[in-house]
Amino acid sequence: MPKSRTVYICQNCGAEASKWMGRCQSCGQWNTYVEEIVQRNIKTHELKFSGPGFDPVSISEIVSTSEKRIDTKNTEINRILGGGLVPGSLVLLGGEPGIGKSTIALQLALTINELKILYISGEESYQQIKLRADRLKLKSDNCFILSEILIENIFAQIQNIKPDIVIIDSVQTLQTEDIESSQGSVSQVRECASRLLKFAKKTSIPVILIGHITKDGSLAGPKILEHIVDTVLLFEGDSNYVYRILRVLKNRFGPTSELGIFEMQNSGLREINNPSQILISPGTENMSGVAIASTIDGIRPFLIEVQALVSSAVYGMPQRSTTGFDIRRLNMLLAVLEKKAGFRLATKDVFLNIAGGIKVSDPAIDLAVICAILSSSFDKPINKKICFAGEVGLSGEIRPVNHIDQRIKEAERQGFQEIFISNINVSPVAKTKIGITRVKKVEGAIKYLFK
Ligand code: TYD
Ligand code: MG
Repeated sequence: MPKSRTVYICQNCGAEASKWMGRCQSCGQWNTYVEEIVQRNIKTHELKFSGPGFDPVSISEIVSTSEKRIDTKNTEINRILGGGLVPGSLVLLGGEPGIGKSTIALQLALTINELKILYISGEESYQQIKLRADRLKLKSDNCFILSEILIENIFAQIQNIKPDIVIIDSVQTLQTEDIESSQGSVSQVRECASRLLKFAKKTSIPVILIGHITKDGSLAGPKILEHIVDTVLLFEGDSNYVYRILRVLKNRFGPTSELGIFEMQNSGLREINNPSQILISPGTENMSGVAIASTIDGIRPFLIEVQALVSSAVYGMPQRSTTGFDIRRLNMLLAVLEKKAGFRLATKDVFLNIAGGIKVSDPAIDLAVICAILSSSFDKPINKKICFAGEVGLSGEIRPVNHIDQRIKEAERQGFQEIFISNINVSPVAKTKIGITRVKKVEGAIKYLFK
């Protein structure tokens, strides 16, 4: 048995110390010491193994095989993972507390009922998990629950039960006896995760790890795990709203630009296959201050409603407030409107809201933002059959945006009759029924919409 001991290693310069220190004496950085296990039994550098399976192989001799994937019974998650769960993969499901990580994990555990699933929770008791399962109205005889935090015990139980999939809620609660530092510390989390990775690779059993990230992105969050795991899924959304976005940040077995949209209901998370339909409110026929943008997140196009309210500033300093949109970007767009289109918005309060509590960083939403603001300012509604896809530049020019074909196609699919795009956006290849209006400047769009 190799002798192992723990030491503290500076993550900045690699200096080693036998006890924790606040400040590294060799590089002077603060808070960089992390406890690590070292094993010292390597005496010789001779090759230990050689022969087939150990020697390097020419890449042209490697036979490519298509991985058999496990169907998760959830079309959105299957699609996000690139066709299902890969055997032997380590998947990290991250997100802020209360976003629905445990819910979706238990939902998966209960719907994949032909496989044996071991759901290990270090956070909730058996009773709590049962209550959640009742709430989800799902039943399965193949789902086993274990309330445990010690990784050594977990491995022993895995050997007993022999599950097909392991789910761990959450990685921050795991602990190994080999490291003294407290639960949730960087060294505990990293050590446990790398043991689980070795386990997954050796046995081909997929492991789903749940990880918290705090609002300030604390160090023991899943950030350090991103290098270890094969796939990182991030749950986003405002827990005050019902919509959640599941995004792929890293995927060794599929695309990273995928995203899935879910709705948190009373009985768990429901997949949303047609996001455009829910993100546009149905009864806004004659409302001013509403404009629809054709946006793309990753590779997924959807239409989203931008709502603006412009009113006279009561206090000296006009207010600007946004939800789901960058406030600095709003200030820039207001400055463009003021300077280039001659609108006096300095005496107005401007409130901007992206429907559904969804955050949008796609610059193609700019044109819709400007139109929504002007529509509210003039109190003139925009025709509900018109949508927008264009970035606005500093001189008021409408700039071209990427994936214009997909945006136009989605707008057409949702029944829009006209889409405003930049005059220099390349022509769509496919023939479309939807009318395409090309605009050069913000002023042009204004003239057309509010004449
Ligand atoms: P949870 O999965 O516990 O979040 P996390 O594990 O990411 O911390 O979900 C928490 C929220 O979801 C909680 O506020 C209650 C809500 N919820 C529902 O709205 N419907 C449901 O069916 C369930 C199980 C939870
Ligand atoms: Mg939880």
